[in-house]
Parts: sequence; C-alpha cells; structure tokens
Amino acid sequence: MAIAPLTPELLRAFPLFESLEQADLERLLERHLASALGEDQLLVQESDWGETLFLIRAGLAKVRCFSPDGEEVVLCLLGPGDVFGEMALLDEKPRSADVLSLTPVNLVKFSGALFRQLMLSRAPLSLAIAQLQSKRLRELNRRFAIHSADASTRLLNALAQLACLSQSGANVLSVFPALGQRELAAIAGLSRETTSRTLSKLRERGYLEETAAGMRLLSEEPLKRRCLL
Ligand code: CMP
Repeated sequence: MAIAPLTPELLRAFPLFESLEQADLERLLERHLASALGEDQLLVQESDWGETLFLIRAGLAKVRCFSPDGEEVVLCLLGPGDVFGEMALLDEKPRSADVLSLTPVNLVKFSGALFRQLMLSRAPLSLAIAQLQSKRLRELNRRFAIHSADASTRLLNALAQLACLSQSGANVLSVFPALGQRELAAIAGLSRETTSRTLSKLRERGYLEETAAGMRLLSEEPLKRRCLL
C-alpha cells in the first residue's frame, strides 16, 4: 500500500495532533517509525510492556481480549486516523488488550516517552486524549447495550461500523473490505452459524451485496428501523 511520508502538516490533520505546534510535531516525527503490515498481524499483545503510541494511517484493526472460557471478545474496531497503545502510556501498566490487523495496515509508531512529555506541557493534547478515552467509553457502552439485541441488529451494527471506519469520509453505505465469516462473527459477538444465516438473510432481502471490491450495505432502512443510525 503506497502512502505519502508523514509530514507535520499531515500529522496535524489527525484530531489527536491538531493542537500541536509545528516544533512539537517535528519532534514527534524525528523519532517516528512507519511500517506496512499484512492482515491478521498482532500489533500489540495484551500483558506486554510497551512504550509506543500507534497511529493507523490505512487499514482496519480490532482490539480484542479473551473471556475466561477462551472465547474471543472484540472490544472495538479501529480505522484510519485512530490511535492505540495510549493506555499503557497513561497508566504505566502492561498492554490492556491485543490489537490485530484485520486488513493490510499502514502504521506509525511514536515514542511514548516523548508523547507523555508533551502531554505534561500541552494541556490541549491532554484534553484530546481525555476526549479520546471518553469517546471509547461511549462506544463501549453502545456495544454493551447492543449485546442483547437480535442477530440481525448485531450484524448490521458490525457491518455499518466497518463501512464507516473503512476510509476517511466513509458512511454506512461505503464499500468495506470483505472479512471472513469467522471474523464477522467475532466482531458481532455471534456464532459462525448464526452469522452465516444472518448474512444470507440480509443478502436475500437486498440489504447487502458482495463484489470484488468488498462488501456494502445497500440501504439505511434496516439500520434506521433498529435505531442504529
Ligand atoms: P494499550 O493498553 O496500551 O494497548 C492495547 C490498546 O487497545 C489500548 O492501549 C487502547 O489503545 C486499545 N483499547 C483497549 N481497550 C479498548 C476499548 N475498549 N476501546 C478502544 N480501544 C481500546
């Protein structure tokens, strides 16, 4: 995936970094590392110690942990412009969850020590991190609330989320990379069999199409009916 080298101007376009002065952006970029990785790569491992903040420039990732009986629990999806790895920097504890790529990803790694140093001296950056945490808690609340909904609602919610995250400016009807049924099942919190049945139902009703470019929801109507929009 060809992607332009990161400049202070490009970095400032990401919400977390928009308050930073040119000199701060340059300091962050002096020690950054860009990498391109394939799908299904472990980007961060739960319980590891880590001193890096990550920015996703392209691609999709999932944050996951495991239940005590070994079942994968997807906590959150991440896409272009999202950062991760900030929790271990903030509380100086091991990584709270695994982060894995769902598609090929372009990542930028920043020095956690420098980022923490900037947070101590730049109040707007600290506020931006607090806002990020608040946004994540809202998303988790929403995910928790949807957990007892029917299979169609949970799968539609997962598909709409993937569509919105797939690229900047995307919406629920945007094309997104076709993921396997096992992956969609984990994201929606459903069994594979239920996911397969529900996908067929959505296709038959004309709500979902799969082409060489990827998957796409074809109507907002089932989302609106379920208060997902
Ligand atoms: P860290 O704990 O350093 O490493 C794992 C990362 O996953 C974590 O930082 C956050 O960036 C991210 N993460 C963990 N839990 C959630 C969640 N519930 N929602 C969004 N991101 C999360």
